[in-house]
Amino acid sequence: MTAKDHYAFHLAHFYSWMIGDFGEKQKSEEDFFIRNGIPPTLSKLAIDLGAGNGLQSVSLARLGFEVIAFDFNTQLLDELTSNTKDLNITTVCDDVIKFWMISMEVRTRLYAWVIPSPILKLTIILEKLVEKISERLVIGGKLVISFRELLTEVKAKKGLFPSEVIQPEILTCFLEYFPKPCYVHDILHELQAGKWIQTVSSYPKLRLSHGGVTAILERNDIKFYLQKDWVA
Ligand SMILES: C[S@@+](CC[C@H](N)C(=O)[O-])C[C@H]1O[C@@H](n2cnc3c(N)ncnc32)[C@H](O)[C@@H]1O
Repeated sequence: MTAKDHYAFHLAHFYSWMIGDFGEKQKSEEDFFIRNGIPPTLSKLAIDLGAGNGLQSVSLARLGFEVIAFDFNTQLLDELTSNTKDLNITTVCDDVIKFWMISMEVRTRLYAWVIPSPILKLTIILEKLVEKISERLVIGGKLVISFRELLTEVKAKKGLFPSEVIQPEILTCFLEYFPKPCYVHDILHELQAGKWIQTVSSYPKLRLSHGGVTAILERNDIKFYLQKDWVA
C-alpha cells in the first residue's frame, strides 16, 4: 500500500487520537520554533510539507507567519482547518513533491520549511526536494526536517511496540526491516460491542540515517545542526 492510501484508508482516521492532546503538542512545537530562533522576519512565509492536522502550521501562524500547509490527506487537512481558527494558513491538498509548482510570487519569498519523515518514498526524491528548497530559500531562511532514524534496527521486542493504549482502542506499531525500506505496520484493535476488531495497514518508509540526511544537506550547501531529541 502507498503512504497516501495508508493515511487515507487507515491512519488518518485515528491520527489525531494517536498524537494526543492537540493544544499540548502544538505548544511544544511552538516552543521548538522559538527556542531555535525561527521568527517571521525577512519573509513572513513558511511552507509546511506534510502538515497533518496542523501542529507545526498552527505554531508558525501563531508566531506571525503566513503559512501554506501541504498535505495529500483531505481528512487531516479538514482537521487542520478546524484547528486554525483565525490564523493565516492556506491549505493545499497535493503531494509535497509538487510544492515548487506554486506561484513564483510565493516561491521567491520562502522562509521556513517543515518536512515530516514518511513523505519520501525514495532517497532520490529527498535529494530533489532538498535541492529545490535550497534554490528557493531566502538568505537566512531555515529548513526544519523531522524524521525517525530507521537505519538501526530496533531489536528489542522484535520491533513490536504498543504506540497508544487507551481503551477501547489499542494501536501497535510493528517495524519490518528490509535493506532499503522499512515497512511500518499499524495494527489497530477497537473494542466494539464486546468484541475486539483488528484492522491492519502497512506502508514502506525510507530508512533515513542522520549521516545520510546530513550528507544530502551538505551536497546542497545547507548549513545544519542535528537535534536528536526532537521527534515530531
Ligand atoms: C507523521 S505525519 C506528520 C504530521 C504533522 N506534521 C505532525 O507533526 O503531526 C506525516 C504527514 O505527511 C503527510 N504526507 C506524507 N507523505 C506525503 C506526500 N508525499 N505529500 C503530501 N503529504 C504527505 C501525511 O498525510 C501526514 O499528514
